[in-house]
Amino acid sequence: MSDNIESHLSENRIFKPSKEFSKNARIKSMAQYKRMHKESIEKPGVFWAREAKELTWQKKWTKALDWKPPYAKWFVGGKLNVCENCVDRHLTNGRANKAAIIWEGEPGESRTLTYRQLHREVCQFANVLLAQGIKPKDRVLIYMPMVPEAVIAMLACARIGAVHSVVFGGFSAESIVDRLSDCKAKAVITADGGYRRGGVVPLKANVDEALKKYKSVETVIVHQRIGDKIPMKRGRDVYWHEEAARVSTKHVAKAFDSEHPLFILYTSGSTGKPKGILHTAGGYLTGTYSTCKYIFDMQDDDVYWCTADVGWVTGHSYIAYGPLSNGVTQVMYEGAPNHPDFGRFWDIVEKYGVTIFYTAPTAIRAFIKAGDQFPDSRDLSSLRLLGTVGEPINPEAWMWYHEKIGGGRCPIVDTWWQTETGAIMISPLPGCTPTKPGTATLPFFGVDAAILDETGEECAPNEGGKLVIRKPWPSMLRSIYGDKKRYRDTYWNDYKGMYTAGDGARTDRQGNFWIVGRLDDVLNVSGHRLGTAEVESALVEHKAVAESAVVGRPHEIKGQGVVAFVTVKGNIKTSEALAKELRNHVGKVIGAIAKPDEIYFTPSLPKTRSGKIMRRLLKELVATGEVSGNITTLEDYSVIADLQKNLKK
Ligand code: PRX
Repeated sequence: MSDNIESHLSENRIFKPSKEFSKNARIKSMAQYKRMHKESIEKPGVFWAREAKELTWQKKWTKALDWKPPYAKWFVGGKLNVCENCVDRHLTNGRANKAAIIWEGEPGESRTLTYRQLHREVCQFANVLLAQGIKPKDRVLIYMPMVPEAVIAMLACARIGAVHSVVFGGFSAESIVDRLSDCKAKAVITADGGYRRGGVVPLKANVDEALKKYKSVETVIVHQRIGDKIPMKRGRDVYWHEEAARVSTKHVAKAFDSEHPLFILYTSGSTGKPKGILHTAGGYLTGTYSTCKYIFDMQDDDVYWCTADVGWVTGHSYIAYGPLSNGVTQVMYEGAPNHPDFGRFWDIVEKYGVTIFYTAPTAIRAFIKAGDQFPDSRDLSSLRLLGTVGEPINPEAWMWYHEKIGGGRCPIVDTWWQTETGAIMISPLPGCTPTKPGTATLPFFGVDAAILDETGEECAPNEGGKLVIRKPWPSMLRSIYGDKKRYRDTYWNDYKGMYTAGDGARTDRQGNFWIVGRLDDVLNVSGHRLGTAEVESALVEHKAVAESAVVGRPHEIKGQGVVAFVTVKGNIKTSEALAKELRNHVGKVIGAIAKPDEIYFTPSLPKTRSGKIMRRLLKELVATGEVSGNITTLEDYSVIADLQKNLKK
């Protein structure tokens, strides 16, 4: 067992769903789960064909799966329109006048779009895109606040076969440049701004700055959210509402191949360059549809709320595609959880009668810290199911969520998955799986998860190893956009024919999966992936910096905090002011989430004789203040003593 994959958790509290919950749930017993899971593993084609058949296909597939490792094609020969499945089909199944999106802006206004209204808006915006010359497979970058137009933009792209790449609104102009130039986007959809923590995020201004460096964007479509006068570049920038007024609200959805690209979403890896994860239409939709149906147990009278941003994969799969393909009513909220105070989320739950609530452990920890008076003074009795995603949840946070938010009656689904997996892979099914605080429990249907040691042997219970998926699944990534080699090297190189997730994990004696954390140089800050190499290269870009090493350290709210060790150039004097400047510089290059919590200046970094920075030592130093592991390969021992002194200050 490798020394960095160790787990000391031993949790004996077991929570079973109530009889009442199980009775009404789709999957009611462990026997039913086991039967279906067995079938889904032994006959994936049969299982997934049944799921996919619940969706609308304009042409049926001839073969469920074509698997030439590491390349999978699902529902080969089938044709569908993803947007039609999320919108149009609800116009004829009794849901036309049902609320699709109930939106609340941070300043407090609210707006409801029924499926019929959503359809009209999406068709109209699809016509705007067509009028701007967007063609199937063209890449369109979306940089939007959390407003319905963000989802409308995604659906309209899908409708005309264009490939969207949503960039989180908290990312900087430079991050936009990197993504634009990697996917060679032809158009950008943005807004004049969005409200966050009482202020305005200047989205269009960031796009303008990015487009000074990347010049191949032909059109920028600007949704007017704020209404302030902003610079508009003639011949390039157009207002959404003005263009919409010129086109029809009617559009017939054409079918695309099941393997037609749907979106590219950038995520961090262990090098400085983010990976463009590519997902395709039929398999992705089937995976997100099916997981929403079984894991969130979505019923027609549910009011579902996922608090993620559309800029992350959770927003793609569990705001846009999964919930809408299920025809559920969902709440969407623009702003921060603590604006004007930490009661905002609970006000929203009470106001709209939210029944299913899906959030991140980092938010739960922040709520715990803020105090029980916020949830205690709201009526949360509408809730029936809770979910978490993004990082392991600490058992205390799980218990608080269960008791304070769920009133002790709501099952919690701790969902493990990744940008790459497209949909939830390991999670309880709320009507049947006994849960323990801190484990994502058991694999979903069709997911053949295992934990392997370095030699490829399956680990015994409680032995830590690498989490792998041994069989293809419909919503899996198809490649890294434009870089098949990196796709093969990153995910398919450790064990033949198997997907390596990059996470360390163990199972317990009941077969529950306990995720320990990343095995590569990737941090998990507030449930978001951040490559240490990305932060390092941002720091080194600054004129004062010669070299830097970035590691994570446990953080009470964020899960992991960012710690940077920095060596400055010869003639530079270090100071608090310089540390602040570097922090802001990282914010400017990547985005606020990447700003180091702590910066330590050091005359040198611990290196091996061959010159490799020993991040393992730095990680240990910041976590424990000491270095216990093997340091025989260290080139200069005094570096560690100096750093120790520095950290104690
Ligand atoms: O380390 C795992 C952690 O988040 C990583 C995936 O990050 P990302 O692609 O940004 O997607 C986040 C939302 C799906 C995983 O490799 N992770 C995600 N969910 C969990 C988790 N770790 C433990 N438990 C979870 N439920």
